[in-house]
Amino acid sequence: MAYKTINAEKKNSVGVITLDRPDAMNALCEELINEMAEALDGFEADPGVGCIVLTGSEKAFAAGADIKEMQSKSYMDAYLDDFITEGWERVTQCRKPVVAAVAGYALGGGCELAMMCDFIICADNAKFGQPEITLGVTPGAGGSQRLTRFVGKSKSMEMCLTGRMMDADEAERSGLVSRVVPVADLMDDVMKTAAKIASMSLPVAMMVKESVDRAYETTLSEGVRFERRLFHSLFATEDQKEGMAAFAEKRKADWKNR
Ligand code: CAA
Repeated sequence: MAYKTINAEKKNSVGVITLDRPDAMNALCEELINEMAEALDGFEADPGVGCIVLTGSEKAFAAGADIKEMQSKSYMDAYLDDFITEGWERVTQCRKPVVAAVAGYALGGGCELAMMCDFIICADNAKFGQPEITLGVTPGAGGSQRLTRFVGKSKSMEMCLTGRMMDADEAERSGLVSRVVPVADLMDDVMKTAAKIASMSLPVAMMVKESVDRAYETTLSEGVRFERRLFHSLFATEDQKEGMAAFAEKRKADWKNR
C-alpha cells in the first residue's frame, strides 16, 4: 500500500510504520493520522505480524499536531469533529504490542503519540516536551494525563506549564522511556527488541500487554486478580504446554499461537 505521509512495511514478523513528512518535522496532519490508523489496522489484521514499531526520522519522531492545519479551527469545528480522537487514538486500541522508536523531537502530539505506544526506546538525541501552552492551548492527546503517570506530578506539571523539553537521559531517569541508545543504533536495537517480542506466542504477548495496561486502569488488588485469572486461563492453551515442555526438554519452544 502506497502512502503519502508514512511508510509502512513488514520486516519478517514486525510491522514498521515510519512517519514521513520531512518538510514539517513529521507534524501530525489529518492525512498522516488517517494513514497511520489504516496501516495499524493492516498490521493488526495480519496474523504474520507479532509486534508493531512506530518511528519517525533521526531529526523528529513528530513535532506535534500540525499547527498550520489546526490554527483556523473554531471551537465548534474542534468539538463537533471530536478533534484528536478518531485515528489519533487508534494506537491505544491495538491489541498487539506497539513499540515507539523515538529520535529527535517528540513534542506535543508527538510526545503524546509516543506515550500511547506500549513503551518507548529513544535515541540519545531525543527531546520530549509538551509545548502546547506556548501556543495558547493545553495538551490535547493525553499529554497532561499520560506524562503525569510516567514521570510524576512535579516534572509533568513543570514541563506542561513551561513547555521545556526533556533530553534522553532525563527521560530515562524519569521512567518515560525504557532505554536510551545511540542514534545510529536506534532502529537496529528496536527491531531486535520487536523481533524478540514477535517471536513469543502472540496470544500470550497480547495478554501480557493487557495485564500491564490494567495497572493503569484499576486498583492493585483488582489488577492482581485480573492478572491471576489470565495466568490461570493460559493453562488451557497449547502454548503453555509447549513452553514448559520445551524448557524441561532444553529446546526452543515452537509456538502454535493456540
Ligand atoms: N506543525 C506544523 N508545522 C511544523 C510543526 C508543527 N507542529 N513543527 C515544525 N513544523 C514545520 C515548521 O513550520 C517548518 O516549516 P517551514 O520550513 O515551512 O517554515 C519546518 O517544520 C521545520 O521546522 P523549524 O524550521 O521550526 O525547525 P527547527 O529545527 O528550527 O525547530 C522545532 C524544530 C523545535 C520542533 C520547532 O519546529 C517547533 O517548535 N515546532 C512546534 C512544536 C510544537 O509546538 N508542538 C506542539 C503542537 S500542538 C499539539 O501537538 C497539540 C496536541 O496536544 C495534540
